[in-house]
Amino acid sequence: MRPVTDWDPRSWRGRPALQQPEWPDEAAHEAVLKEMGNLPPLVFAGEARDLTESLAAVSRGEAFLLQAGDCAESFDTSADSIRDRLRVILQMSVVLTYFTGVPVVKVGRIAGQFAKPRSSSTETIGDVELPAFRGHIVNDSGFTEGERTADPTRLLTAYNRAAATLNLLRAFTKGGFADLSRVHQWNREFVAASPAGQRYEDLAAEIDRAVQFMRACGVTSERLSELRQVDFFTSHEALLLGYEEALTRRDSLTGGWYDCSAHMLWIGDRTRQLDGAHVEFLRGVHNPLGCKVGPSATTHEVLALCEALNPDRVPGRLTLITRIGATKVVDALPPLLEAVRDSGHPVVWVCDPMHGNTFTTDDGHKTRHFDDVLAEVSGFFAAHRFVGTNPGGIHLELTGDDVTECLGGGADVAAADLEHRYETMCDPRLNGMQSVDLAFRLAEFLRNGRE
Ligand code: PEP
Ligand code: CO
Repeated sequence: MRPVTDWDPRSWRGRPALQQPEWPDEAAHEAVLKEMGNLPPLVFAGEARDLTESLAAVSRGEAFLLQAGDCAESFDTSADSIRDRLRVILQMSVVLTYFTGVPVVKVGRIAGQFAKPRSSSTETIGDVELPAFRGHIVNDSGFTEGERTADPTRLLTAYNRAAATLNLLRAFTKGGFADLSRVHQWNREFVAASPAGQRYEDLAAEIDRAVQFMRACGVTSERLSELRQVDFFTSHEALLLGYEEALTRRDSLTGGWYDCSAHMLWIGDRTRQLDGAHVEFLRGVHNPLGCKVGPSATTHEVLALCEALNPDRVPGRLTLITRIGATKVVDALPPLLEAVRDSGHPVVWVCDPMHGNTFTTDDGHKTRHFDDVLAEVSGFFAAHRFVGTNPGGIHLELTGDDVTECLGGGADVAAADLEHRYETMCDPRLNGMQSVDLAFRLAEFLRNGRE
């Protein structure tokens, strides 16, 4: 990618920036940003370039992208919970690779996914109106004035939490936890108890036999480092532009600017305006980018986003994450696919089957049904098959924990079960069992697509 001219890390400040909190003391906010500008980068430019290369392989149909994690990370997340989210992503990758023979590019919604766009800037309970909860990077979820007031010192806490999470992920993925010979140990008891978990056990036994066979032939996993370690990348929605700007650094090797808060950044469906601050900021950083594409997106807008964010048409640079809804995807997606195909833009197409399928139950739980998630995935694959384009990956909100936030799936969570373990701070996530179940279904779609 060539350096972007008429751009600098502050040029977004001249554009309308939606979804930014109201900081009570703007000077205090700017002081924190200044301090952050001197902190070490969280990721390195070379790693972001490696991810662009891997995503280029996805755009050619030679790999599959699995992007997954929390809707909103909490500052209180435990090390066990981080490990279990990684564990379920590794399980899903093994299922997908085993059945499709294609490598899986693993990208977490993790180590920085702290900021949330909201449909309303305030929340009213009874006759009390307070600022909306915007994620732990801004304020707290409790409904008091103190908790809801935006606090810029939270930006520093977010940086520190992201650094600690990333450190743990690097240790897990490079230090033995991700070794393929541990494939059985990734299956937690509550997952193993489900039909998908049983199926996973059978698959793990086959992988074990293959690893033993290689060992018997003299290929130990110590020698074959690909079996011991995995590449795991981080991503989040680049929502708070002050935070992203403060972590943007010029790469000494290439001279290009990189947003060093994560390997990959995406623009949300609410902030993808062509003349808006988010598009302006992200068009200038050299990280691989995502952009959400919701049901209101027109072909004209999508093509203009491709031109704005990837004018040089670099493969792997731009991932379009469609989140259209199960009932609309079959009609709405093909025209977008055709237009982008005809324009020659090399995008990675990814299906987010979560955000277009959210509803609220009678007793007030925001939820999603596993069958709707599956239906959008099915429609996504059908649309690509119809147009002759490449279904590149999936974008999910999940946790490794045994929560009850989404309906249906492996253990058939019912509406009455939602209250048992409803722990999300924002959107409902698939639990470990539902995630492994989805991986098997996805593998079938992918295999059928390749036949
Ligand atoms: C999200 O990914 O959590 C989100 C808010 O998505 P979208 O921008 O697609 O609504
Ligand atoms: Co969400």
